[in-house]
Parts: sequence; C-alpha cells; structure tokens
Amino acid sequence: MDDVINAAGATARGYHIDADEYARMYAQSIQDPEGFWGEHGKRLDWIKPYTKVKNTSFAYDDVSIKWFEDGTLNVAANCVDRHLATRGDQTAIIWEPDEPTDEALHITYRELHAQVGKMANVLKSLGVEKGDRVVIYLPMIPEAAYAMLACARIGAIHSIVFAGFSPDALGARINGCDAKVVITADHAPRGGRKTKLKDNVNQALLHDTDDVKCLVVQRTGDQVAWRNGLDFWWHEEAEKVSSDCAPEEMNAEDPLFILYTSGSTGMPKGVVHSTGGYLTYASMTHEYIFDYHEGDIYWCTADVGWVTGHSYIVYGPLANGATTVMFEGVPTYPDAGRFWQVCERHKVTQFYTAPTAIRALMGKGTAPVEGSDLSSLRLLGSVGEPINPEAWNWYNENVGKGRCPIVDTWWQTETGGILITPLPGVTPNPKPGSATKPFFGVAPVVLDDQGNELDGATEGVLAIKDSWPGQMRTVWGDHKRFVSTYFEMFKGYYFSGDGCRRDADGDYWITGRVDDVINVSGHRMGTAEVESALVAHSTVSEAAVVGYPHDIKGQGIYCYVTLMDGVEATDELRTQLANWVRQEIGPIAKPDVIQWAPGLPKTRSGKIMRRILRKIAENDFDSLGDTSTLADPSVVDDLITNRTGA
Ligand code: WT7
Repeated sequence: MDDVINAAGATARGYHIDADEYARMYAQSIQDPEGFWGEHGKRLDWIKPYTKVKNTSFAYDDVSIKWFEDGTLNVAANCVDRHLATRGDQTAIIWEPDEPTDEALHITYRELHAQVGKMANVLKSLGVEKGDRVVIYLPMIPEAAYAMLACARIGAIHSIVFAGFSPDALGARINGCDAKVVITADHAPRGGRKTKLKDNVNQALLHDTDDVKCLVVQRTGDQVAWRNGLDFWWHEEAEKVSSDCAPEEMNAEDPLFILYTSGSTGMPKGVVHSTGGYLTYASMTHEYIFDYHEGDIYWCTADVGWVTGHSYIVYGPLANGATTVMFEGVPTYPDAGRFWQVCERHKVTQFYTAPTAIRALMGKGTAPVEGSDLSSLRLLGSVGEPINPEAWNWYNENVGKGRCPIVDTWWQTETGGILITPLPGVTPNPKPGSATKPFFGVAPVVLDDQGNELDGATEGVLAIKDSWPGQMRTVWGDHKRFVSTYFEMFKGYYFSGDGCRRDADGDYWITGRVDDVINVSGHRMGTAEVESALVAHSTVSEAAVVGYPHDIKGQGIYCYVTLMDGVEATDELRTQLANWVRQEIGPIAKPDVIQWAPGLPKTRSGKIMRRILRKIAENDFDSLGDTSTLADPSVVDDLITNRTGA
C-alpha cells in the first residue's frame, strides 16, 4: 500500500496530491479505468490476485457490475492481520463512551485481531457458515466493529440495523435476509438515556419460528429477558473459544454486507455491497479525501448503523491501518461542548460529521467550542445533506479556525463511498455548499427530464455514467428492483435520485432529492414508509407525507392525515399518531407536523399531487402551480386555511 501512497506523490504542503496530480489521475481513471483500478486495487492484499479488473454494464436489459472478479481476498485480513507485523501495538480503535467520566478504551491492532478471531469462532460455534446472514443491532461499542470484522472473517454477510430502529423495523430486516444470528447488547446508553436493545430483539423475534439465535454483549449489566437455548452471552462464549480463526478466502464479488435504506416507494431495500471493489474504494477514498497519514487520529461521528459508519469508521480507516475513534454518545451530552472535548482529549486530526449536528451546535453559541483546544485538527468533513453556507462558515471559523480544509462529501448508501467532494491540497477556493468535483473513476452527468446530458453550467438531475468499484451490486433478493430503481428512468445511467447544479467552474452543487425520499437530520426516510405506518393506525383513513425546511434537521416530516369517518380530530390524537409512527419505525421517523386533511389533492386518476402538498408545507401558497387537473380543487383551499404553523 505504501508504494501506492508514494506513487501519488506527497506535495510540499504535505497533501497526497495537488491539482495537477488530480487532473492527471482523474483523466487516467476515466480514460483507462482498467489500468487505473488495476493499479489501485493493489492497495489491498489479495490471496489470489485478479487478472480481470472491470466487467460492468449499465445497459437497462443487462445491468451487471463486477470488479476484480477473479481475485480472492479476505476483508478482515486486510483490515487487521496485515497490519500486525508493522503496527500490532498501534491503537486501531479509540472508544469514547457515552459518559465522559467513564474511561476511554484504546484497542490495538493486536487486541483487535484477538477479539475478531474470538467473535468469528463464537459465530461458527452458533452455526454460522460462509454466506449466512448475521444481523448486528448494537450500540456504538467496539464489539460492533468486532462483529462486522468477524462476519467478514468467516464470509458471513452482516446486516447492521441502527439501534434507534423499532422492534418492527428490526424484525422486518431480520426476516428480509433470513438471518441466522442477531448480535445485540443488553442496553444501549446514549445521551444519558438507555435503549433496551435485547428486549427489542425479543419483541422482533416474538413470532419467529426459525429459532434465530442471539449473541448478547453485556454493556450495562441491566436485567434482560432470556430465551433459553437461543440466547448466548458474548463474554461467556468468548471464554470457550480460541482467538485464532483462519480468514475465509472470499471472491471479490462475494457480498460483504447488506444495509437497508429507504427509497421513494415501498419498504426499505437491502443494498448489497461486495468484498473487493467495496474495500478498494472505501480505503482509497478514506486516504485521499481525508488526507490520511500515518499517526493521524481520525474521527467520524456517524453510527455504524449507517453506511458512513461502515465505510468511514470501520472498513476504510482500518484497511489503511489508521486509528479510528468510535463515539458512543451524542453531540449535546452532557453539554454542547462534547465533540470538542473529545477532539482535545484524543488529539483528533480529522473530524467528519453531519450538517445537522453543526447546526444544532451553532445554536448553542461559540463558548462550548472555545472551551477546548482544537489545535490538533487538520481537516474537517461534512456528509449526509447539503451543508448551508451559514453552517459551513461557522464550522470553518469556529472549529477549523480558518485553517482546515473542509470536505463536503456527497455520496449514498448505494455508492459505498464518497463520489463527489473537494480534495485537500487540490480544491483551491472552497465554495460553501458545493461538493465540487468527482473522485477518481466517477463520471457524473447532469440530465434533463428526458435523460439528455446537459453541458456546461446547468441544472438537472444527477446521474453517473459508468461504474466505480464501490457501487452496490444488487438489492438483496430482488435484482429487478435494483434495475428498476436505479437504471430504468434514465437508460444507460445510474440515477442518484438527487437534483444538482453544475456551475461555470464545473463544480457540482447537490440540491436535494427529486424523489419521495426526505432527508431528516442526514437520515433517509421514504415518505411511503411513514404513510404506511400512519394508515396502519385504526383511526387513519389516508395519509400523505412530505418534507419541509427545518432549521436544525434540514428537513422535517410533515403529514397530512385524513381520519376515518366519525373520528374526532383532537390534539391528543395528533400526539398519539406521532408516537405511533415513532414506535412503528423508530424515533427518527417521528412526525414534526400533523395536519388534519378532510381531503387530499388528487388528480382525476386518483394520484396524490405531492407537489402541491409540499408547497403548502413550505408555506409557499403563491406558487402552487397548475391545479386545474385536480379532481376537487376546493381541498387545496381547505388545506391552506387549516395549515398548522410549522
Ligand atoms: C442522500 C444519501 C452517504 C452518507 C450519508 C447519507 C444526501 C449525502 C450529501 C452532501 C448534499 C448529500 C443526498 C443523497 N447527501 N451527502 N454532501 N451534499 N446531499 O447516505 O442515507 O444513503 O443518503 O443523502 O440526497 O442522495 P444515505
């Protein structure tokens, strides 16, 4: 790997590359993807080196994506074993617990190796074999990383479910991939509160007939209900097994993990990522975009329940032999200075967070930031939603003190890694709010509604013209859905679902989703999911859900609800419905506004006109557009009159 780093050439400023080098490498990556990725795939250790690099097709009737298809490797060996000789005693993971008064842990690569080996052997003892699925439902504790890497070690496919999801959502994901084992903890402490994870698993498995086993990490020591013969304590099982577990030889195209994400229709889909291409891409982007160098202390504040945690807390950093910080808590506990105290305590060099966190902290003033020594910071990152210029400037001035490059990284669960971003040492004048330029091998295009490529400075939808190694391979169990979701609307392209603008310098500005997906605090939520939770309530006849601008969350959840005949529309019911959705999906889906709607604006063919509902939610009544196709235009007047102040 060092050869590749050196080949990139460190510049006088110490960044891996400069603007000329970026231009040269980018041009090569697009003109000769085989040559480019053939070289950079070597940053990993392969058991059997690949001879074929790229075999991909975006053709609608033949969507197929394969990278390094005849190579074999093991992801855990790449993230752990290969570092032992040179950095066995280096810290791999710094764990910062929820309570600042509890001790942080420093886990070396050698310790990580032993823990991963043990967990791999425990999984085997529970009957998990290569290709089996394991659901991980854990707090942000080191065991989450052990579990991911243990699966990778034995060739099991993990599917992490964010610990904030409800038992129902968890159950659907366990069934969705036929998991053999669920790895969880007794309770999850977060922000001074506790979530009863094991109880949630019990509830999720209540009607399970497959005898799904559960491996339980003791995090808090609280009492939990036990399913005899099916539940096992991690600390007890770990005693019984050796820490040696030979890594399974995996094909580059074997699935590494499934991660469920929301789309514009139906229930969340299981995004499938591969072994070789995914890890190559996660590792290379982590190194270049975060300007990762030996000795850095890198911190991404995401949760491993989201793709950001997969690629940029665990897989990318560990593949690069980095020290990665795992934080169990939240930015505002016990106070709004927590992020900065952690930066100071661990001398963090790269800090990667979401605009929603920045906005929340911005509201608390600058005193909490000024209270900590942030001189170790060299680079800042942002991810999850467009960052508004106010938040960008606040981040730059108060956290970066005007001397840290900011990388505004655009990507998606589906893309596996960052696709569009500024690069430190390359991108000259930062433009607050622009994700700027594509990473190597990424060919973005701006399309009009008809799918024509637009040139120069323009605006339209964002699509990608050719495959990159980190791209998702399929939807778990439903390849047709993969093709119809991403390749049907604009034939020959991967369609991102985002709108974008390209300026005269060729820089990209992501303007947000153009489908029925909303982005709440950097988390994706399908409006269809919230709607189906609402109509599952006995009092609800119909529901339509849209996003609206929210100061801190970016977008809030605005619900129009039509009640069953005879049901009284009370404030109490409103609270009840909001809590119902929270319980059905999880806290992140809790509606911000519920407006009673005697009728919904529909076309004569019965299609709900969300465009109008969005405008009403935005308080923008003057630009409702054409309402002449409505079956009953009077419902719009009623909705406007009764609009609840958001
Ligand atoms: C959607 C993907 C990828 C990690 C976290 C979210 C939005 C993400 C940016 C950014 C503008 C962004 C897009 C995208 N998004 N990063 N830097 N600027 N928008 O992953 O849950 O799969 O959501 O998040 O709308 O489509 P995700």
